[in-house]
Amino acid sequence: MNIKNIIIRQENKKDYNNIYNLVKKSFKTAPLSDGKEHILVNSLRDSKAYIPKLSLVAEYNKEIVGYIMFTKVGLGNKNALALAPLAVAPGYQNLGIGKSLIEEGHKLAIELNYEYCLVLGSENYYPKFGYIPASKLGIKSPFNVPDENFMVVDFLKQNIKINETVKYPKEFFEL
Ligand SMILES: CC(C)(COP(=O)(O)OP(=O)(O)OC[C@H]1O[C@@H](n2cnc3c(N)ncnc32)[C@H](O)[C@@H]1OP(=O)(O)O)[C@@H](O)C(=O)NCCC(=O)NCCS
Repeated sequence: MNIKNIIIRQENKKDYNNIYNLVKKSFKTAPLSDGKEHILVNSLRDSKAYIPKLSLVAEYNKEIVGYIMFTKVGLGNKNALALAPLAVAPGYQNLGIGKSLIEEGHKLAIELNYEYCLVLGSENYYPKFGYIPASKLGIKSPFNVPDENFMVVDFLKQNIKINETVKYPKEFFEL
């Protein structure tokens, strides 16, 4: 597979079923998973936090091999997002698809005037894309998670203390 042949595009209705299966399959062996990420995608899609332009698939040979979703979260008076989930199909991992999805998502998020994006994930993966521990900006999680796994990217490099707890959409608590 040549990464140049991967198309990153906005999801559409016809993709929903394939995305559900892809996310379910990808997280089966993931270390930081609750096994419900595919259900979260469906409920976030029906919520006020949903942003169609920031729900992206990676397509290869007409097959969906990767998915990323960014949704709106509350962070004081800032325009902020949460990245959840990111999934790449087993068999297509470690080829740069996750990286392409994150980079395209960040580019679009900045165009849409978002200032920050939060993620709960691997401290070995997300720092490559500008994520730092959210605690460094005084940002707190409502979930009981290890400090190093709760990260933020400061798109505009404002580097200011925010001192707020993130308000996630209720769908994150209903699983
Ligand atoms: C994690 C995941 C999204 C990464 O996407 P990907 O397309 O496989 O990764 P990329 O090709 O963009 O990046 C590869 C790099 O990330 C590292 N990496 C891959 N998965 C990782 C993980 N779960 N934790 C830490 N590092 C990881 C690889 O070792 C590789 O490192 P290198 O660039 O130093 O060689 C994908 O492997 C996946 O869907 N995994 C299962 C679901 C999951 O765990 N999702 C949550 C992510 S916290």
